[in-house]
Amino acid sequence: MCGIVGYCGPGPASEVLLEGLKRLEYRGYDSAGICVDVDDELKVIKKKGKIKDLKEIVPEDLDGHSGIGHTRWATHGEVNDRNAHPHMDDSGKVVLVHNGIIENYEGIKRRLKKEGHTFLSDTDSEVIAHLIASLYQGNLEAAVRKSAFLLKGTYGIAVMHRDEPGTIVGIRNGSPLVLGIGDGEMFLASDVTAILAHTKQVVYLEDKEIVTITADTYRTSDYYEQEIEKKIESIGWELEQIEKDGYEYFMEKEIWEQPESILRAVQGRIDREGATGHLGGLNMTPRQLLNIKRIYIVAAGTSFYAGMVGAFLLESIARIPASTELASEVRYKNPVVEPDALYFVVSQSGETADTLYAMRELQRKGATVLGICNVVGSTIARESDGGVYIHSGPEIAVASTKAFTSQISVFYLLTLLLARMRHLSFEDGLEIVDAIEKVPDQIKKILEKTDTIRSLAKKYARYTNFLFLGRGLNYSVALEGALKLKEISYIHAEGYSSAEIKHGPIALINETTPSLFLVPDDKLRDKVINNIKEVKARSGKVIAVAVEGDNEVAGIVDDVIWIPKTNPVVYPYLMVIPLQLFAYYCALELHRDVDQPRNLAKSVTVE
Ligand code: F6R
Repeated sequence: MCGIVGYCGPGPASEVLLEGLKRLEYRGYDSAGICVDVDDELKVIKKKGKIKDLKEIVPEDLDGHSGIGHTRWATHGEVNDRNAHPHMDDSGKVVLVHNGIIENYEGIKRRLKKEGHTFLSDTDSEVIAHLIASLYQGNLEAAVRKSAFLLKGTYGIAVMHRDEPGTIVGIRNGSPLVLGIGDGEMFLASDVTAILAHTKQVVYLEDKEIVTITADTYRTSDYYEQEIEKKIESIGWELEQIEKDGYEYFMEKEIWEQPESILRAVQGRIDREGATGHLGGLNMTPRQLLNIKRIYIVAAGTSFYAGMVGAFLLESIARIPASTELASEVRYKNPVVEPDALYFVVSQSGETADTLYAMRELQRKGATVLGICNVVGSTIARESDGGVYIHSGPEIAVASTKAFTSQISVFYLLTLLLARMRHLSFEDGLEIVDAIEKVPDQIKKILEKTDTIRSLAKKYARYTNFLFLGRGLNYSVALEGALKLKEISYIHAEGYSSAEIKHGPIALINETTPSLFLVPDDKLRDKVINNIKEVKARSGKVIAVAVEGDNEVAGIVDDVIWIPKTNPVVYPYLMVIPLQLFAYYCALELHRDVDQPRNLAKSVTVE
């Protein structure tokens, strides 16, 4: 979604801003712009399209040392130059960039129009610039503070005023904003990746906080002018982690990183002696863990599917009733919070609005909500009542891959922990531990032989519909595989339980709708084979992801992707890798923009 970067310092502002925006490209956007303070004039340059298009129209000699920049993911108003940020009020004095949605912008706009303001764009954001200008009485921070009491909605804003050169005011309510502290320079950003090349020292703003920066000062305060002392934190990521490092796409890099990212997720958290998991961040005593009667997992998209794997493990192995709910639905169903239930929210970014708002609603109702997040210091990570980081490192590609396998890793550890406190024997626990420990090497083996998957992508990429079918633990993996294919290749794909197709989807089967079946050698294998036969009997083409040596499956399907044999409990890890690769190679085959698929954003910070 939209990205913000701001800079005050001795350096060339336009360069710093353009570089910062380039780093934010991964979030998904449709236009971009910058504003630089040049000889006490605020120069705005903005354009529909990519950062490279913007770069072409930024004069090389644009000589200013403070400024703000933005990547826009359209919500109000079509994608065009006019609606791109930064927005300026009609006096030309206030310029701002905004992430989020202003719900009451129409009322404010009507009133300001009556007062003589002229608006140039169709956006809700432009209204804020006019509002701040109308409230300005010689102090930008004060005008921004006053405007906050009039705005309804979510916002992360960076704003400049022509009469206060070298100063930027940032304000946050619902959209992330972070201050970066450099050596004689200050930064603002919606996401640390925008400023990681310059500083690792950051201050995360909370909702309803304001920050005012100059090149060598910053001041944080609340809406009531109270100064707030904020903790300076250090970003744990290295610059190389947000670079492609020789890979063609971030998605490719992130798929190949999984043997290491899974190791990072489980490292120090497996207790072999006790055949259990160890998750310090839960902040719960053994007695409290023993008293959990039910688990709810709340998330969106890929994180939701990881949560489904988690719920299956927790219920089937730890014997705790567990279910997964879509965050976007939880918030509005007036959820019943059960006193003995434990709630998890799962979010790679830790900023997904649906998940964040669901979490807050559950907390309001008294739930204890634990977070499973990747981005350290993200809003969900900070506001949850405890939780676990997955330590995937930055995930830049819009399509989530390594976060999924790290999220399920946390659920494996949680299952071990809770199951060993209940019915799981030491021996059975150790078998699961052994299987988890083998996973990184088994994934490496799959990644060493991607030729089959690449040639299958060539063969199948021009089909326009796909079914992804799996059962039990691998049902959610089928859903994830379908999501991956549709989001990056734009091939229509649906995931189902393979048992479910006879209840409707089998009507779609003919020679033009291939099915991809997940066939682990578990207790449901024979039933899945029956489902494959049902599809074959109707001229459906079938690709199977099957366990090495399963000749029976090979004999009845059109194509097979082999995965190593393992304990059936950990097949989701091995099943998902070929599906990620299949989606990736199909997207390449169709010349799609793999890392930034159309219409999508990395971190969905609006509802
Ligand atoms: C799919 C994908 C999305 C995200 C979803 C939740 O590849 O990336 O479906 O999984 O938007 O995002 P997080 O996990 O950041 O809350």
